[in-house]
Amino acid sequence: MARPLSKRGDVATFLAMDVYAQATALAQQGREIIHLEVGQPATAAPKLVREYAKELIDNSLLAYSDATGIGKVRQRIAQYYADHYNIDLDPNRVIITTGSSAGFVLSFAALFDAGDKVGVIEPGYPAYPNILKALSIDPVRIPVHDDPDFVPAIHHIEQAGPLDGLLLASPSNPTGSITPGDRLGALIEVIEAQNGAFISDEIYHGITFNDDHRDAPTALSYSDNAVVVSSFSKYFSMTGWRIGWMVVPDYMVDPVTRLQQSLYISPPTLSQLATLKVFDAFDELEDNVTVYKRNREILITGLKELGFAPSAADGAFYTYVDISSRSDDSSAFCSAMLNEAGIAATPGADFDSTQGHNYVRMSFSGATQDIEEAIRRLKVWLQA
Ligand SMILES: Cc1ncc(COP(=O)(O)O)c(C=O)c1O
Repeated sequence: MARPLSKRGDVATFLAMDVYAQATALAQQGREIIHLEVGQPATAAPKLVREYAKELIDNSLLAYSDATGIGKVRQRIAQYYADHYNIDLDPNRVIITTGSSAGFVLSFAALFDAGDKVGVIEPGYPAYPNILKALSIDPVRIPVHDDPDFVPAIHHIEQAGPLDGLLLASPSNPTGSITPGDRLGALIEVIEAQNGAFISDEIYHGITFNDDHRDAPTALSYSDNAVVVSSFSKYFSMTGWRIGWMVVPDYMVDPVTRLQQSLYISPPTLSQLATLKVFDAFDELEDNVTVYKRNREILITGLKELGFAPSAADGAFYTYVDISSRSDDSSAFCSAMLNEAGIAATPGADFDSTQGHNYVRMSFSGATQDIEEAIRRLKVWLQA
């Protein structure tokens, strides 16, 4: 008989992946499915990156790198902070990671002990509580539904009780909300005043929709002790390359390096080197953002016309849609929408343990014609 498994492995599955599997099964039966459940760009990595990667495969050893990553890549990322955020960053504080996902594992392992309490915002990205639990750290869910933009405020954090850390994504998945700079600074201050760590998930930076295309504020503007976790996955359109980075305070560099040595040896060398070219591809990357912006406009306007209440989605490529005018069971709603209208979207329960039944996450990272078709199908479906 199999021996009992650990409680740490007992984490929730992603409903988004279940929906994706159902959508794929329907597509195999010949149905044309519109994918609003996906959490990634529909574009490949920029052309310059792909060309350089081919060259690297032919001409380089592509062996392990230093655990912290390749020096010139760390320097190039530090340069990006100077150019993009006007922040002078010591490249030694930049640690390259296997996607931001590894950045979470490394930062949680370096910062927290078993039983420590770390605040996670709800609605929020489901992997946070799952990774924390897998490391025997206690996630403390902090609901922010009373804020019109789902942005946490000081009172939300205070209600959560004493915390060893707080994790915040801005722009957020699933709401697309951006935490304004003054709010971000105040949240960091509250957490650091209780000797807690502030971990800022900045993976959707670069994808913002205000007219002057200002980026979301970075936690590094407010504290040198904040831990930033970021990635080449979203704005840089390199999800499958599994490459990201962290910016850590000086005193975390050694423990994170040692953890990375043992957990991952090094981040993928091919992907690391290929990112050197992504910083020459801003024209292509900005074209992607232009498409997201157009898609967002079509989706949000269409959803409002149909009586739904989508979140404003100031950044990232998701809107979190209040469907309570039609249903209080978003899983049943998504299932019917998939089977009857051929539109796949993710039930809110993935992101939200209390109110998720009233919400659906829709992604607008796909092709504009798919977003237009989704709205057309929704109209027909809802009138039927
Ligand atoms: C908010 C957020 N953080 C982190 C990740 C992980 O991304 P990656 O490991 O590709 O950097 C995702 C992926 O969808 C996400 O939505």
